[in-house]
Amino acid sequence: MKNFKNTTYYTDEELKNWIEDESMNEWLADTADRIRRDIYGDAVYIRGLIEFSNFCKNDCLYCGIRKSNKNVDRYRLTPEEIIQCADVGYELGFRTYVLQGGEDTYYTDDMIVDIVKEIKAKHPDTAITLSLGIKPYESFKRFYDAGADRYLLRQETSDSEHFKKLHPAGMTMEERHEALWQLKEIGYQVGGGFMVDSPYQTTEDLIKDLRFLEKLEPDMIGIGPFLTSHDTPFKDFPNGSYTKTLRLVSILRILFPYALIPATTALGTINPLGREMGLKAGANVLMPNLSPTMYRKQYQLYDNKICTGDEAAECRACLSMRVDRAGYEIVTDRGDVITRKAELVY
Ligand code: SAM
Ligand code: FES
Repeated sequence: MKNFKNTTYYTDEELKNWIEDESMNEWLADTADRIRRDIYGDAVYIRGLIEFSNFCKNDCLYCGIRKSNKNVDRYRLTPEEIIQCADVGYELGFRTYVLQGGEDTYYTDDMIVDIVKEIKAKHPDTAITLSLGIKPYESFKRFYDAGADRYLLRQETSDSEHFKKLHPAGMTMEERHEALWQLKEIGYQVGGGFMVDSPYQTTEDLIKDLRFLEKLEPDMIGIGPFLTSHDTPFKDFPNGSYTKTLRLVSILRILFPYALIPATTALGTINPLGREMGLKAGANVLMPNLSPTMYRKQYQLYDNKICTGDEAAECRACLSMRVDRAGYEIVTDRGDVITRKAELVY
């Protein structure tokens, strides 16, 4: 249970209004920024993202690297290459790595355990975040025991009918939610999240997501707009709303004052200043890419993804400038969630 809680209860009616009403943008962002500055000051935490494989056994209907997409040029990094990415990141000041990929069965549990142990042995002052999709409880536990600190697994939606419209038969919302509870029980810092304006999503679905997160009390919450991916069954659905995504970032900060909330790549893709605006709307994390440049374009979850051509060092320098201009400051430590005995009333 987090000590740093918002004790105010917001009704579904209030949340609906905040989600839908464009005239709330400024008030929500100002309120969220005030809360974030109270807890985290102007700190922006950076996580080095290593997209280590675009092979996936899943077929999520929204995702550009789904297994049925035959037009993807598939790649996977060797354990040595993953560790090299971490080394480069360390030199650039990263103290957290996010290892993310499709659900690629090539990597056995033993391999993941060895990668985690090796990075931790070389860089003991870093935190490792895994984002590998759903695994058996025993695997989650082994990775944690090997030294993994955090796990990102967006729930995607908290309405089971909506979940079925986004995923093929065989994947269930219950399984994804249950995995999040398991991760939490094991001791991970846990991250949930969802896409804004994913196909068929209603405001009621979004409110259900917020209610689910209130129960879960995650340490991290990642959201971004749904973005069209031309080689998927959802190719004719439009991009999600930029301003609604920003409002939801603010709502998350108001509901979860302590949370680590990234200004995501998807937000930067839908608008050139999306990440800066995300920070101003209450986000406090950025996740620049540390993957080798030669593979970047192949981890194409959606069309027009940004930052696919820059070297890690260029990304790092570009972000420093952007964060500075937005009025915040990059912090190069593990950037753990802040909890303290306090009750907030906003
Ligand atoms: N395989 C892991 C998993 O399932 O959690 C991690 C990789 S998955 C590609 C990471 C996230 O990308 C998903 O949770 C989803 O929310 C997001 N994503 C996938 N397709 C997207 C799209 N078309 N637009 C925006 N975000 C997308
Ligand atoms: Fe597996 Fe997208 S369908 S990562």
